[in-house]
This record gives sequence, C-alpha cells and structure tokens, in this order.
Amino acid sequence: EQIEKGGFDHFMLKEIHEQPKAITDTYRGRLLRQEAIIKMAGVEDNMKKFLNADRIIIVACGTSWHAGLVAEYIFEDLARVPVEVEYASEFRYRNPIITEKDVLIAISQSGETADTLAAIKLAKSKGAFVFGVCNVVGSSIARETHAGAYTHAGPEIGVASTKAFTTQITVLTLIALRLARAKGTISSSDFRHHLLELEMIPKKVEESLKSDAHIQKISEIYKDVSNFLYLGRGYNFPVALEGALKLKEISYIHAEGYPAAEMKHGPIALIDENMPIVVIATKKGHYEKVVSNIQEIKSRKGKIIGIVTEGDTQVRELADHVIEVPETLESLSPLLTTIPLQLLSYHIAVMLGKNVDQPRNLAKSVTVE
Ligand code: G6P
Repeated sequence: EQIEKGGFDHFMLKEIHEQPKAITDTYRGRLLRQEAIIKMAGVEDNMKKFLNADRIIIVACGTSWHAGLVAEYIFEDLARVPVEVEYASEFRYRNPIITEKDVLIAISQSGETADTLAAIKLAKSKGAFVFGVCNVVGSSIARETHAGAYTHAGPEIGVASTKAFTTQITVLTLIALRLARAKGTISSSDFRHHLLELEMIPKKVEESLKSDAHIQKISEIYKDVSNFLYLGRGYNFPVALEGALKLKEISYIHAEGYPAAEMKHGPIALIDENMPIVVIATKKGHYEKVVSNIQEIKSRKGKIIGIVTEGDTQVRELADHVIEVPETLESLSPLLTTIPLQLLSYHIAVMLGKNVDQPRNLAKSVTVE
C-alpha cells in the first residue's frame, strides 16, 4: 500500500497532487488548440440531440452533484441552454417532467451510484437522451447511458473525492464549449481564449499546490473549532459547498457552504470571533460584492480565510489569512479555488488524527439507496 501511495501519507493527498496530470489526461486528444476545436466523439455523434434540447437536466450525488452545479453556470453562461441540476435521489422520486426533448447528463465518479443509475433509467423510459460523465470505464452508468465522456482521472481511492471532481468539471467545460461553438453563442476569439486558458490550468493547479505549507499553518490555527462557514458567489458558490463537504467528510467538523450574499439571511447570526469563514474572493467573480460581504463578516469579528487571486491587496487587508491562486477566466476558476479547500480539509483531518482515506460511515461508492 505504501508503494501505491507513491510516497504520500494518504491516497487523498496523492490524488490531490495528481490533479495537474489528471486534468491534462482528461482534455488530451479532445482540446486541440492549434486547430481551435474540441473533439469528443460522444458529443459529436449526438450533436443533434444536444442542439435540439429544450434544456439539460443534470443528475448526480455528493461531490459529483457539486460538479453539476458548476456545470450549470458554464452551460448557461457559454452555451445559453437552460440547465437544471438535481440530486438523483430527489429527482427519481418526485414524478419529474421529462420529455424526448430533454438531455439528461448523469455525473458519477464510480458509475455505480444506485440513485443516479435509477434516475438514468427513469429518464430513458421517458425518451430523454442520456449522457454519462463517469470515471470508471465500463461501470454500470457508463453502460446504461446512450453516450458519454469519461473523465480520465485514474483510480480514485480516497473516499473524499478530489481529482474526480476537477476532471468532471474539465469534461463538462469541454462539452459546454463545444456546444457553445456549435450554437454560435461564443465568438471564435473567446473560444480560442478559453482553450488557451484551459490548457494552462494544470500548470496553475501545480502553482496552487505550492500553498500547501501555508495552508498547513492555517489548519493548525483552526483545527479545534466546531463550525466552519464557506462562502462563494457565482461559479464559486458550488466550490464553497464542495469545500464544506470535504471538511465535514474527513474531519467531522460541521461546515456549511453558502452563497456569500445569502449569508445575511441566516448564517450571519452564527458569526462571532470563534467562527472561521472561508471566502472565495477571486478577481472577476463579483469581486467587489464579495469584498463587501467580507466587510460584513469582519465587523462581526469572524475569522476570514480568503481564497484570492495572486497579487490581491484589497482582501489581504481585511482577511486574517489569504491563500492565493493564479489568475484565470472566471468560468475556469473553480478548477483552481477548489485546490486550497481540499488541502485545508486534508490537513485539519490529519491533525485531528482522523482516518482521511476511509472516514467513518462513508463509502466510496453507494450502490444501495
Ligand atoms: C459517495 C462518495 C462521494 C461521492 C458520492 C457520489 O458519497 O463518498 O465522494 O461524491 O458517493 O459518487 P459517484 O461515484 O456517483 O460520483
């Protein structure tokens, strides 16, 4: 097992560090920057279905559901197609309206999650076109869907999903960009810009991983608290949810993810000098609005851990700690802002002596409902 961990203490840490390669493997052969095209057989062969779709329904569970939420922003923003994101377990039991003009995208690392599989079968029975985004080749969901695109993350052993999440976002971004191009909702120069920026993401993930020692120090300060709040807006709202989930899963510290502006409708009541609040405040992503949310936290003495764009000064002045990530397009920022949140939860869990790779009560794949 030590050999399998490749010199890392845990599979989770190894998998966090594998992300530059996993993301590269996921877009390799699909993102052809020189030719300025995206090539994905599963999308190409079914382009008509995608173009004729009234809407896209995304179903998933857990971390994959968070990737679906990020995809909602990307698809609507770039490809201008309405998207609904559903927990598979809710969708399957609520007599949903599904028609032949719907495209359902099921996201699943394992490809074996019972609720997601059931949602697929339901959508198929109503005539929808079903597309899978799975990591495990030949898995039940990969076989049950009409077409799909694999994430090429490689085996993920840690129960808390890391590289599966970022590669799911990568695949979904590629699909959204391909559709946007086909629909003409993105200009050719903007499309090329996205390809260029996406190609640079692995290098930037590597950069982000260099904050590890700094994040370890922050973890030391907050490891004994009993509550955490995670805030983000726009593309980074789902990242806040995912950051909170990661912390809960492996450290057993209660954490809540919230849209930053929604804080004043509830969570703000929890804020005092004992409450650490992770705020994703990258440039471009409604930056000024997030800064004013940070001011609201500060005036209530909350401890602020800001996830900021390299070189940021405004948040640095207000926050107790900042963790920098390189600059990128707002639509790609979740691929970077996720990294420090993974490391933060990892280090806190290790410091608390928790079983990081196999947290209590959780399973890697949930094959029963
Ligand atoms: C379990 C795992 C999570 C995962 C979820 C969905 O709860 O512990 O990490 O996100 O299932 O799994 P899937 O394989 O469908 O992505």
